[in-house]
Amino acid sequence: MASPPDTSKTTKLERYNSYLRRINTARLLTLSSQLLFRTTILAALLLILLFTLHHPPLSSFSFSSSPPHSHRSLLSSSSSSSTSSSLSSHSFQRQVLHSATPRNPTGLSVLVTGAAGFVGSHCSLALKKRGDGVLGLDNFNSYYDPSLKRSRQSLLSKHSIFIVDGDINDSSLLKTLFDLTPFTHILHLAAQAGVRYAMRNPQSYISSNIAGFVSLLEVAAKSADPQPSIVWASSSSVYGLNVENPFSELHRTDRPASLYAATKKAGEEIAHTYNHIYGLSITGLRFFTVYGPWGRPDMAYFFFTKSILSGKPITVFKTQDGAGEVARDFTYIDDVVKGCLGALDTAEKSTGSGGKKKGQAQLRIYNLGNTSPVPVGKLVGILEGLLGVKAKKNVVKMPSNGDVPYTHANVSLAEHDFGYRPTTDLAAGLRKFVKWYVQYYGIKNKVHGGVGGGIDVSEVASV
Ligand SMILES: NC(=O)c1ccc[n+]([C@@H]2O[C@H](COP(=O)([O-])OP(=O)(O)OC[C@H]3O[C@@H](n4cnc5c(N)ncnc54)[C@H](O)[C@@H]3O)[C@@H](O)[C@H]2O)c1
Repeated sequence: MASPPDTSKTTKLERYNSYLRRINTARLLTLSSQLLFRTTILAALLLILLFTLHHPPLSSFSFSSSPPHSHRSLLSSSSSSSTSSSLSSHSFQRQVLHSATPRNPTGLSVLVTGAAGFVGSHCSLALKKRGDGVLGLDNFNSYYDPSLKRSRQSLLSKHSIFIVDGDINDSSLLKTLFDLTPFTHILHLAAQAGVRYAMRNPQSYISSNIAGFVSLLEVAAKSADPQPSIVWASSSSVYGLNVENPFSELHRTDRPASLYAATKKAGEEIAHTYNHIYGLSITGLRFFTVYGPWGRPDMAYFFFTKSILSGKPITVFKTQDGAGEVARDFTYIDDVVKGCLGALDTAEKSTGSGGKKKGQAQLRIYNLGNTSPVPVGKLVGILEGLLGVKAKKNVVKMPSNGDVPYTHANVSLAEHDFGYRPTTDLAAGLRKFVKWYVQYYGIKNKVHGGVGGGIDVSEVASV
């Protein structure tokens, strides 16, 4: 008789098999979750790598969160990639602090707006040289060749001055900068300059010279702790149709002859308001036709030089009645820089905080000129001598589109309050300008070849 099957053995075998199946399934699950985990880590690493590669380098932080009314978009040629993460990045903050902290323990910490501009770059270097901290702010717009502004920026960065690429209308950027650094002073030079360009692009004057100024004063009055003292650039153009000579701070300035002049005059009234309501200490400086090395290509002495060297005719204005020559109180850049530093050094502290005035604050306005007007024809003669080339002059009546026939500064107030005394005459100043010009634009060889007879070539080479 066959013995019955051993059921207990079969059951055991089945249980063992099912145990093995469960173990295998569990292993499979573990393996696949490990695979998933590793894939996720790998993907995350790849993302981090991609982000790092696309992050802007330290030297070119830029901010484009400017409001729509900024003229940067119309004019700017510089690329810009704003992110709030750039503002909060450690490297950006390090750059700002390194640049803005004074080397000298009793030094100032100055935010210079328009630092890539003509006057701004010179003032920034002078402040840094004497041990003050300087942070620049400029939107690098293309009103004139932005590569000149970039060259000035390179020069400044060699002296450890960092320029933030941003707009004064960008309040959140301004607040971030004031949160990072308790600036003692603002030297506000950013503006839309030029008299005749106002007929082509009036809005750019409103945006930078009025809206931008208000945006800066708002942050200085309400957010900055402590409130900084402010020194800013007005202009001799506010004298407009004034006929009393020499121009004194007591003369009328309510008849501007150009929109540029009107925005500067508006700036003076706005300064009064912020001083009155918020206790901001504000000093306005009326510059008179500033010229010199690293100057502005839209100004006559600069484009006359270019045209004379390339044999092109230049247009020289005579007065509307045809009887006289247009004259300017040309002021050399080093004299203006001394005036700006004198104004900063004698600026009293603002009295308010958090948007509340705590007492009367200083409000000043000064002429910074050369005190000796020179007819434009004489300027051309000096350039002809320095360049060794005769200019092809086209003399016409000055159109009534904003320019005034004559400027002449009385600077006794600035002399009395901070020792301002201009020392460079036009011939000496233009000589320095031409030396810079021929070197910057690489015209040295032409000078050797006969152009520039008035300039000693060895001097040119050593600029
Ligand atoms: N140079 C002169 O003869 C003269 C005469 C009178 C007054 N000023 C005034 O002096 C100041 C400096 O003049 P400058 O000759 O150096 O001119 P500039 O054009 O060389 O410098 C101004 C700088 O401000 C920047 N800027 C303009 N709008 C800006 C904005 N919204 N945000 C940030 N940056 C901005 C520009 O990019 C430029 O680099 C200006 O306020 C000008 O109106 C100059």
